[in-house]
Amino acid sequence: MIRKCLFPAAGYGTRFLPATKATPKEMLPVLTKPLIQYGVEEAISAGCNTMAIVTGRGKRAIEDHFDISYELEHQIKGTSKEPFLSEIREVINSCQFTYTRQKEMKGLGHAILTGETLIGNEPFAVILADDLCDNGEGDSVLKQMVEMYERYNCSIVALQEVPMDETYKYGVIEGKLIDQSDNIYRLSNMVEKPKVEEAPSNLAIIGRYILAPEIFDAIRETKPGLGGEIQITDALMALAQKGRVIGYKFEGERFDCGSVDGFVKATNWFYEKSCK
Ligand code: G1P
Repeated sequence: MIRKCLFPAAGYGTRFLPATKATPKEMLPVLTKPLIQYGVEEAISAGCNTMAIVTGRGKRAIEDHFDISYELEHQIKGTSKEPFLSEIREVINSCQFTYTRQKEMKGLGHAILTGETLIGNEPFAVILADDLCDNGEGDSVLKQMVEMYERYNCSIVALQEVPMDETYKYGVIEGKLIDQSDNIYRLSNMVEKPKVEEAPSNLAIIGRYILAPEIFDAIRETKPGLGGEIQITDALMALAQKGRVIGYKFEGERFDCGSVDGFVKATNWFYEKSCK
């Protein structure tokens, strides 16, 4: 079983300045709910009971959000506003939150390695909260991936087809379709943010991973890559060479809430949904 879900949440969110000057980007709301709460709810839906959050300086609002606010509870108890807190109360009651700080921003691989102390020696999920996924009444993307993990028992990355001229934004894979009905690829190569002429395909890695604990050693052995950062894509590549990584082309909507454009699309999507 996958019990723990890791959230790398130390990044600066520079694309949303000035909004993210004093507010963590993970706390930006789509409608009334912060991005990271969508991620935590997805992890709960997939059966996780421990949220391992890798934070950094200026991110304390995340910890406060997933804690009881006695003053607020007291003020609105018995009023018409009380139901507004019911969703977050349920989240807080159904799992535990653990935190560690990433002191320096040295890339996603480094952030995940920083979380090792919260994970230990077991397989775990990773959600990048700015990739917001929605699957309506169907199973969440992470739940679909947990099912695939039970079947294949190795690290899994979520995949989505993107236009070739957008491959420079993603980790891009090369792989062989090994199960057509489940949309599973055995990965042989991965490139972080390739130029269009260097992209091995148009299958991009989206911010959902299930990682076997062997990833930690792989990250430790990974040299800085693109941008001088320790890339999770490069560490996964080492496991892929041993045939230990698959990709799952998932079902569902996904919004890149790390960009203003994607954020606005997500807002419209969830607003229209809420009007139904
Ligand atoms: C990260 C990963 C990249 C992946 C992407 C998904 O990039 O490095 O491989 O495709 O997340 O959102 P970032 O968006 O953090 O630059």
